[in-house]
Amino acid sequence: MAERPPVKLGVLISGRGSNLQAIIDSIERGELKAEIPIVISNRADAAGLARANKHGIATEVIDHHGFSTREEFDGTVANTLKAKSVELVICAGFMRLLSHVMLEAFPERILNTHNALLPAFPGIHGPRDAIEHGVKIAGCTVFFVSEGVDTGPIIVQAAVPVMPDDSEERLAARIVEQEHRIYPYAIKLYQEGRLEISGRKVNVRDAPAEPPTAIVNPPLR
Ligand code: GAR
Repeated sequence: MAERPPVKLGVLISGRGSNLQAIIDSIERGELKAEIPIVISNRADAAGLARANKHGIATEVIDHHGFSTREEFDGTVANTLKAKSVELVICAGFMRLLSHVMLEAFPERILNTHNALLPAFPGIHGPRDAIEHGVKIAGCTVFFVSEGVDTGPIIVQAAVPVMPDDSEERLAARIVEQEHRIYPYAIKLYQEGRLEISGRKVNVRDAPAEPPTAIVNPPLR
């Protein structure tokens, strides 16, 4: 099969940008065939902007406060991404809901990561909500963005144990470590043409046949 060209990513951030960093690192290690022609933040103080600059990646701040509607904001974001020939949009800690304008500009070509095992605990407090609910296993989800909050077809998930003395911060840190593994992996699957959306499901072509071992928490003794 012919080698596919690197996929052009447009990364949207609002803050720390550790997932952006994981994607950059994966590209630099040669694991992920991708380029990042643009990183867009809706906040000028997002720490992720400095990470991008450090790697020579162009950045743009598009402050949502400057727009009267979500659609107008999304139109400007979409035009900025198109001007850079972006194929796949990567939301990485981007704390804005996308409207139909972005979804129509990039149909089935927007990914997001969430720090919960969807469909449980959507929204902005995944780890806190998991602790408050008392679940024993939490995790993260990379999915195709659709209309609705954290509702699109799921590509890959990773599970981590919730410990009895976990704070929100400790659990979030354990989860984000896994996001740093599965987000570049999901992008790689896309780049290799191995993802096929079928209704709510995403079929992953040529996934390893043997299943991973189960996490049981607390451990069986
Ligand atoms: C990630 O853990 C991501 O799942 C979460 O924000 C963090 C961003 O970290 N996103 C959401 O809660 C969206 N619903 P980062 O800025 O270091 O990549």
